[in-house]
Amino acid sequence: MNKIFSTLCLVVGSLLHVPAIAQDASTGDALYKALGEKPGITLLVNDFVNRVVADPRIGEMFKNTKLPSLKEQIGDQFCMLAGGPCKYEGDTMKASHKDLGITKANFNQVIEHLQLAMDGRGTPFREQNKFLALLAPLHRDIITK
Ligand code: HEM
Repeated sequence: MNKIFSTLCLVVGSLLHVPAIAQDASTGDALYKALGEKPGITLLVNDFVNRVVADPRIGEMFKNTKLPSLKEQIGDQFCMLAGGPCKYEGDTMKASHKDLGITKANFNQVIEHLQLAMDGRGTPFREQNKFLALLAPLHRDIITK
């Protein structure tokens, strides 16, 4: 079992619609295109962040956060991760989440909102899973509790 596969099983396994398949992150910009390029990613992130902050289990954590700026940062990060022509210039995941006391359950709640937001935009499950597989390893820097 390779690293990506085991990480995926650990963090988002229960949320996947089809069996996880280890993905090669360096497959060009196909995923970027499947997410609708920058305009599609902007709409996705807007809905995703709105869902997260409306969730009573985690929304409170964002009470001091400027949401337009957060959305912009996440949009650039997602665009870059998906193979698009963007550069994420925000803080590292470790630095930006270190004082938040985020649990594994919180991480999965956020991932669940992302999946619902992708469902809402009609992103095919295969592409959803590819994208979630790219995000899964970030749990090491985000979960602190
Ligand atoms: C794969 C999962 C996640 C990704 C990709 C992600 C990504 C990001 C990014 C890009 C930023 C902006 C950093 C900056 O502006 O420099 C950020 C900030 C933040 N994230 Fe996350 N995050 C994730 C999970 C979580 C979780 C699980 C929580 C809490 C439930 C969370 C809470 C926050 C908060 C509150 C901020 C704003 C901090 C501030 O205002 O300074 N994040 N995140």
